Amino acid sequence: APTKVTKICCIGAGYVGGPTCAVIALKCPHITVTIVDLNQSRIDAWNSPDFQLPIFEPGLEDVVRQCRDRNLFFSTDVDKGIRDAELIFVSVNTPTKKTGVGAGSAADLNNVERATRRIAAMSTTSKIVVEKSTVPCRTAESMRTILEANSKPNCRFDILSNPEFLAEGTAIADLYNPDRVLIGSLQTPEGLDACESLKGVYANWVPSEHILTVGLWSSELTKLAANAMLAQRISSINALSAICEATGANIDEVAHAVGTDSRLGPKFLKASVGFGGSCFQKDILNLVYLSESLHLNEVAKYWRGVVDMNEWQKRRFGQKVVKELFGTITGKRIAVLGFAFKADTGDTRESAAITLIRDFQSERALVNVYDPQVPQEQIWQDLQEASPSSSLDTIQKHVTVSPSAISALYKSMNKPAFVFDGRLVFGNTERERLANIGFKVISIGRGDSI
Ligand code: UDX
Ligand code: ADP
Repeated sequence: APTKVTKICCIGAGYVGGPTCAVIALKCPHITVTIVDLNQSRIDAWNSPDFQLPIFEPGLEDVVRQCRDRNLFFSTDVDKGIRDAELIFVSVNTPTKKTGVGAGSAADLNNVERATRRIAAMSTTSKIVVEKSTVPCRTAESMRTILEANSKPNCRFDILSNPEFLAEGTAIADLYNPDRVLIGSLQTPEGLDACESLKGVYANWVPSEHILTVGLWSSELTKLAANAMLAQRISSINALSAICEATGANIDEVAHAVGTDSRLGPKFLKASVGFGGSCFQKDILNLVYLSESLHLNEVAKYWRGVVDMNEWQKRRFGQKVVKELFGTITGKRIAVLGFAFKADTGDTRESAAITLIRDFQSERALVNVYDPQVPQEQIWQDLQEASPSSSLDTIQKHVTVSPSAISALYKSMNKPAFVFDGRLVFGNTERERLANIGFKVISIGRGDSI
């Protein structure tokens, strides 16, 4: 029969595990939720008396304030967290492998394996183990083998896949009101019971018609499929943005008109300087690797095109700046407003700003970065990783970090002064206002500079 879950442990207190399990604690006051992580400073930040949480996410602090030390706990005692729980979420990071087999595309499953081995070693009672991290299709199989080979007698492990679809910046709203919750399980009586147990947790606030239950492998693949198709939409609109610039069409008008077709829908059609974030590129590369290992080379090539287009779009934007500034930006001052990969987050993973600034640096421009959510040290670390052959000193000769956006005030700028809108934040009205101040405004996907 399904277990009535009263104690949950989440391994990994990051962008996924933190908000997800904080919301579970809020919506399920009868469940004790413990989020564990090996990283002491991260846990300290979650526990900080003044709620200086390790990640910035609108609405998150409010949730943590309501639940922390009531039924939500943060700890580095991974073993105790595992022992006490009936249900364990594995929400550790699975970055793209940098070396070894599959380097550059396969997911690094080292953290998942470590967490799984810990679960096997520490458990003295049966557990439902839930994959929350995005993992390659069939990872649950490896987890099961590890768990079963290392478990104590009378301990059963049921593995579920429950991918997270929240987007950073809107995580709390997405968790409150998800389009769907997806749970994958083996279609055995035990697998289906485990699935019901987890469904019972979400049923505290998600209407049951929004909880989809499917087979384990379908669930694992759905996460990759959803992200690949979302990213593909952005690469499609970005490819069209280049045509707009060359023809005088306006990408926002095209996107709006295209999006009114109910088969396509209006969302996720914003042309940009390129998508970033920890998921899209990683998950597509994951799909590419999977396709290649299944000898589906045409499929692999197809999805790789989405990433290639994104790389091109990022480089194209940098080149556009150089071209508009009369072919050289050497010694010119460029303010970059925003360093995170999108609005309302401090996360910089795969941010297009990193590529852009690296390209500006190689043209020897003087770059001034402003982002109120990103700590300076993070900016230096990202820029250094992007140019491993340059020392931090060299980078800091070309790049400074500003505490305010004031350095970009028109009065203090050389003329003609330019604004490049890589996110289409300025509509016609704002563009005209900037033009009236004296700026030359150039937007992605618009042939009509003003
Ligand atoms: C994404 C998925 O949306 C989410 O479902 C999944 O769980 C994790 O990956 P996230 O990466 O947090 O979420 O943010 P998202 O809003 O999807 O944006 C990703 C990137 O695409 C950002 O750089 C964003 O600026 C860019 N983007 C998004 C566009 O360029 N145009 C758009 O229309 C939408
Ligand atoms: P995501 O965006 O997937 O949530 P993060 O990097 O923000 O990724 O968070 C993942 C967290 O998982 C990190 O805080 C990391 O310290 C933690 N972690 C990784 N491996 C383990 C492990 N074996 N045991 C406990 N925590 C782990």
